[in-house]
Amino acid sequence: MGHDGAVIDIAAEQALTPASRDQVFLDSAGSSLPTDRVVDTVVAHLRREARVGGYRAAQERADDLAGLPVAVGRLLGCAPDLLAFSDSATRSWSQFVTALPWAPGDRILICGNEYASNAIALLQRARHDGVVVEVVPTDPAGDPDLDALAALLDERVRLVSLVQVATNSGHVTRVAEATALAHQHGALVLLDACQSVGQLAVDVEALGVDALSATGRKWLRGPRGTGFLYVRREVLDGLEPPAADMRGATWTGTTSYELNPDATRFELWENDVAGRLGLGAAVDHLLELGPANVEAAVRERAAVLRSGLGALAGVRLHDVGTDLGGIVTFTVDGRDPLAVRDALREAGVTVSVSVRTSTRLDMTARGLDSVVRASPHYFVSDLQLEQAVGAVAAAR
Ligand SMILES: Cc1ncc(COP(=O)(O)O)c(C=O)c1O
Repeated sequence: MGHDGAVIDIAAEQALTPASRDQVFLDSAGSSLPTDRVVDTVVAHLRREARVGGYRAAQERADDLAGLPVAVGRLLGCAPDLLAFSDSATRSWSQFVTALPWAPGDRILICGNEYASNAIALLQRARHDGVVVEVVPTDPAGDPDLDALAALLDERVRLVSLVQVATNSGHVTRVAEATALAHQHGALVLLDACQSVGQLAVDVEALGVDALSATGRKWLRGPRGTGFLYVRREVLDGLEPPAADMRGATWTGTTSYELNPDATRFELWENDVAGRLGLGAAVDHLLELGPANVEAAVRERAAVLRSGLGALAGVRLHDVGTDLGGIVTFTVDGRDPLAVRDALREAGVTVSVSVRTSTRLDMTARGLDSVVRASPHYFVSDLQLEQAVGAVAAAR
């Protein structure tokens, strides 16, 4: 371990996360299991705050806090000053969207796998700013149809919203091609990488996107209540968050203020310091394992699970396309996905259910109300995957 190209030692990883041995944990797309190191980092800081107060406790960890954007920058392939930390992927995503100077008639393109919270934020812009939200059709492989996208793009399209991995499907969206097309027409691209960062090796330069949002608690295995935004340097200057505070700006005169030159203009002064330290520990661990190793392991774990489930009569897989990542979705004939989830929980297998309102366009197009979502991280063993398949077989 320690560099890309090496294989992940599942037993060693489970030793760092004892809860991963007590159950078959298949919900890293929901909220993953943190390592003991992450939990200990958070708890130790809360205890320190209780002893010396939050300000002194934060000062003591100043170096580690400054190291967080450096580590995330290494992960994403960007400079640390292009990152802004927040309390969720959604906060980060909507901070970018609300900082754009919208004019009535501006067009926004979303794709078939758009996430509910993003769609709601954009529909709010439609209601309040007079922008128009339109949907790019999906091709048979599950990607945005590039011909249709080309036909929709014109100078009034200010933003194209892409989701790299949807909340309800294993499909990995081809981001770079759609991004290049959008840029040819002068549109910005915001990438929801909430389900991909920590699962796949994500490089913002290779993808070419203008902004990216992600969360801590899912595939990154960080604490809840953490997230971050990346913004490309060339677009940063024109962006003003609608509710900056004294972290993101300086009060320079009685009637004047200046925004920070970097992406910290999107940050708020008050924050969960313990959570950020925990996120730093989680990102350090991922960097030690190597993001490409993690991606290979996750894809392989999910493929094993998918083929085991696919062999069961009465079980339908719902992942679309050929480029499939770590999310495995399925239904069991004649059984409500929630009942399947509960039956699996009884059998020591943790999964979640993705419902139509989370990805309304895609679920409606495919005639689905809800699906069981199993998302194995690299720490799930072969034996555990077999147990999961056995539990689904028994739940039919
Ligand atoms: C694709 C996608 N985008 C965004 C989010 C929202 O993330 P957060 O809850 O951290 O705001 C989720 C959460 O499930 C998601 O799956």
